[in-house]
Amino acid sequence: MKWDIEKIKKEVKENLSEYRYQHSLNVMEEAEALAKHYDADVEKCKLCGLTHDLAKEFNEEKNKKIIEKYNLKKTLLDSNYKNLVHGYIASIIAREKYNFDEDMILAIRYHTTGYVAMDLLGKIIYLADKIEKGRDNEIVTEARKLAYQDINKAIIFVITNQLNKLESENKKVLDLSYDTLEFLMEINK
Ligand SMILES: [Fe+2]
Repeated sequence: MKWDIEKIKKEVKENLSEYRYQHSLNVMEEAEALAKHYDADVEKCKLCGLTHDLAKEFNEEKNKKIIEKYNLKKTLLDSNYKNLVHGYIASIIAREKYNFDEDMILAIRYHTTGYVAMDLLGKIIYLADKIEKGRDNEIVTEARKLAYQDINKAIIFVITNQLNKLESENKKVLDLSYDTLEFLMEINK
């Protein structure tokens, strides 16, 4: 094994509430199952599942410090990017501290929106986060079923529902989500 998962687990736990740590473990478990189902890299899927929300409970001050330290785009602090920033910062920590590979960094960074030309690892992390066993509603149940049949269709389903919900609440949708949806629909034709 290239990474010490037990050590990373401990550090993730230190940064999260019990509730979110449990969610992270659930995502790790779901990512492992999806990885086995689709013959993806199990170790990478588990690690990305475990760490994807690592920065979710950081306060603004901590985010600011990291953004300055690594010279990241200041726009990350805009309220529009509220849903993106924790993935972005987690991906920087994963790179700097754990030396994760590039594909892992992308999967973590864009786990809330997806990204254009996402690879299997990115798709698995995106979905595992949305369908882990702690979540339960009609959409999740359907997405979970689809996830093990056709991973692209499952993501299209999840994003479409998410966009409908955000639009009906008049909330800002990031271009990345639209672009990801368009990309997946294009390759699924
Ligand atoms: Fe998550």
